Amino acid sequence: ISRADFPHGFTFGTASSAFQYEGAVKEDGRGPSIWDTFSHTFGKVTDFSNADVAVDHYHRYEEDIQLMKDLGMDAYRFSISWSRIFPNGSGAINQAGIDHYNKFINALLAKGIEPYVTLYHWDLPQALDDKYKGWLSTEIIKDFATYAETCFQKFGDRVKHWITFNEPHTFTTQGYDVGLQAPGRCSILFHLFCKAGNSSTEPYIVAHNVLLTHATVADIYKKKYKNIQGGSLGVAFDVIWYEPESNTKEDIEAAQRAQDFQLGWFLDPLMFGDYPSSMRSRVGNRLPKFSPSDAALVKGSIDFIGINHYTTFYARNNSTHVIGTLLNDAIADSGTITLPFNGTKAIAERANSIWLYIVPQSMKTLMNYIKQKYGNPPVYITESGMDDPNSIFISLKDALKDEKRIRYYSGYLSYLHTAIKDDGCNVKGYFAWSLLDNWEWVAGYSSRFGLYFVDYKDNLKRYPKQSVQWFQNFLKPKPAK
Ligand code: GCO
Repeated sequence: ISRADFPHGFTFGTASSAFQYEGAVKEDGRGPSIWDTFSHTFGKVTDFSNADVAVDHYHRYEEDIQLMKDLGMDAYRFSISWSRIFPNGSGAINQAGIDHYNKFINALLAKGIEPYVTLYHWDLPQALDDKYKGWLSTEIIKDFATYAETCFQKFGDRVKHWITFNEPHTFTTQGYDVGLQAPGRCSILFHLFCKAGNSSTEPYIVAHNVLLTHATVADIYKKKYKNIQGGSLGVAFDVIWYEPESNTKEDIEAAQRAQDFQLGWFLDPLMFGDYPSSMRSRVGNRLPKFSPSDAALVKGSIDFIGINHYTTFYARNNSTHVIGTLLNDAIADSGTITLPFNGTKAIAERANSIWLYIVPQSMKTLMNYIKQKYGNPPVYITESGMDDPNSIFISLKDALKDEKRIRYYSGYLSYLHTAIKDDGCNVKGYFAWSLLDNWEWVAGYSSRFGLYFVDYKDNLKRYPKQSVQWFQNFLKPKPAK
């Protein structure tokens, strides 16, 4: 399999995010974000690291763009740091931030790499969390809209693909439910080291405000910029595929509910104008309602669906409604337990992260699910990939031999290919996570997702892993007509 098997115009790229890559957190007027605060709070990050330097992409971007070019990639998905543009989240624009991203975008285009820009990859300006609790307040809508519109004005002549939000489900549940990511809120019952919040209401409020914010921004783009700039706009969703643990009706329904509470929570309002009925019936009046005008604004406000797909879990009916799901969604409301193993048996071969099991065929199943449920809208795989451990016991030479990663990509891309070719799924592009090893949130530097190895002990030097050569071969043939 190679790119020649994919439709003409199919886009291949790598993906990254500002906080995980840039470093330079105090440079050129950048203000702090909730992730600066969280990562500097003792005990939050497993290896006690922070992203103050990260992989220094802020300074080394010319070199990194050359690496993308060497790979043969068409595009690069990266995020803009809100607090570089507005250090306090709102108020005066920081020109140095604008200048940086202008230089960055121009450097990409000079090498023929198309920018795909995420506006929010979790790094909320700390000032807005202090001022009105960030996403818990509807005040954020106008501040985010101003930030987004500033980006359209300054960069939209060259940026034609915008992703307003990265993984709303992840930051909503991890940040406001289980409290394991910034800003670290959860119910005091959940664990002792979170900030006191209300897990049974806050995730739903945050999600609702994110949807209204997205829709407001999409409306601005459509009315003022789309015709002139000719771009399109979407959201990148985290989607684990859920496989019913047994053939019982209960488990099959439980798997569907888990998907409703993950993807449907956000995508159903965007496509159909309301939350899934399984959420309505289980969450009741803790789930906010869309007024008719809000529903109209939200419905139809994406041009494409971004899917971050890495892995597959089993889903089991949880009739007690007490325990939530294990890893990425503690909301017990879904009545489903989702786990990557069945009893003691793992669903498949594991990568490094405890949640990452390699199940390539789910890529095809998931693409068909989206096609059937949502009417075959354009989809980009905005992230997909796997990690190896960062260990002092692994030599550089061995770390570069990443056969497992090659298997991962060839497997996932093969099933994506059959979803397109045999099933007619409307997929437009694929972005590998990630170009470089980088700072993996609470896992810090302990996990290596890169096609290129970063030597944290020697001046952050970049080295190609074997997967680089695999991608070079994969991408070499000219795209088919
Ligand atoms: C996201 C992410 C990335 C992670 C990647 C691997 O968009 O989800 O959390 O930032 O690094 O998914 O876990």
